[in-house]
Amino acid sequence: MLIGVPKEVKDHETRVGIVPSGVKALVDAGHKVVVETNAGALSSMPDEDYKSAGAEIVGSAAEVWKQADMVVKVKEPIEKEYQYFRPDLVLFTYLHLAPLPELTETLLKKKVTGIAYETIRDRNNTLPLLTPMSEVAGRMAVQVGASYLEKERGGRGVLLGGVPGVPPAQVTIIGAGIVGTNSAKIALGMGAIVTLIDLNLNRLREIDDIFNGRVYTLASNYYHIFKSCSHADLVIGAVLIPGASAPKLVTRQMVSKMKKGAVIVDVAIDQGGCIETAHPTTHSNPAYEVDGVVHYCVTNMPAAVPHTSTLALTNATFPYVMKLAQLGPAAAMKADEGIREGVNTFKGYVTYPAVAESQKRKAKTVSALL
Ligand SMILES: NC(=O)c1ccc[n+]([C@@H]2O[C@H](COP(=O)([O-])OP(=O)(O)OC[C@H]3O[C@@H](n4cnc5c(N)ncnc54)[C@H](O)[C@@H]3O)[C@@H](O)[C@H]2O)c1
Repeated sequence: MLIGVPKEVKDHETRVGIVPSGVKALVDAGHKVVVETNAGALSSMPDEDYKSAGAEIVGSAAEVWKQADMVVKVKEPIEKEYQYFRPDLVLFTYLHLAPLPELTETLLKKKVTGIAYETIRDRNNTLPLLTPMSEVAGRMAVQVGASYLEKERGGRGVLLGGVPGVPPAQVTIIGAGIVGTNSAKIALGMGAIVTLIDLNLNRLREIDDIFNGRVYTLASNYYHIFKSCSHADLVIGAVLIPGASAPKLVTRQMVSKMKKGAVIVDVAIDQGGCIETAHPTTHSNPAYEVDGVVHYCVTNMPAAVPHTSTLALTNATFPYVMKLAQLGPAAAMKADEGIREGVNTFKGYVTYPAVAESQKRKAKTVSALL
């Protein structure tokens, strides 16, 4: 198969779809890989590394898209990439089609096989291609929070771990899923006092075991969230109700009762945020203040650490790239239920029910179309 890797063109996107080690594995397996020049540059993966792994470097996106049987990307295509769509093209990337009717329409019209990272499921019924970005964002949230707690950056001038004779900072994390657990791990490692809040009591039991009682756990309710936030130096929002907007668990009134110079990192901002005073920000202007509390609400936190994020993402995506290349798309869909679940557009139809529902289109199953 001829696999193409264009440079990402979405604003502030710094990741790349395949890393040089992936190129080598594909070439060793008898495939050909074409990479747009500088595709990996922002992830600190220069053209020379791709070349020595066996890729052909080409000067434009058009050359990649035109030659490739399968294009592997990170973000959904933007309008200037639509011109490259054609029947028989396999597009493997994050697609997030539900709110993008125009992209969906073009994929359908051009009969592109669109396989979305975000809907691939594994045997444990989790979404394995979303997990790595939650791991990155969860770990980063503490690093960012610690930095904004410094006086120079608007914080109350608190060192997360304290020092002998001075108590550590208090970190409250709401949501004990992938983001929350990774935040807890780093905050604990930096010496903070950590409280994790979740609705799911079984998850809190697991947390208690994992951290051997070193993390305080609280059942999620108004009173516990209010109390915990009012003592906290750093609050991390990490809840998720799949497919729904995040509930506003920290109200404006709770924020007004927080310590002046405390910091909020609302990681759940990509789902609307779980802090009432949070609104989306970007890496160029990441933080603002409400009632003396610093708010950091960047919707694509992993883009700040593209080298790590690209490696984390491609560790998870690459086995699927290899399977699609080795078997070919149709046989891979037949053989792997996870890949089948990833297919969002196929032969001119929407094949993922939630996307069809949100755009009032008729869905067909992949199996019916194979
Ligand atoms: N900003 C970014 O760059 C970025 C990056 C990655 C992930 N995220 C977002 O972070 C959020 C968390 O992702 P995740 O992978 O950890 O999800 P997850 O499903 O692993 O965890 C979510 C947790 O929230 C808990 N929860 C749900 N309702 C709750 C409530 N009312 N009170 C307390 N806890 C509640 C769930 O029980 C679950 O444990 C998502 O919105 C995700 O999209 C953002």
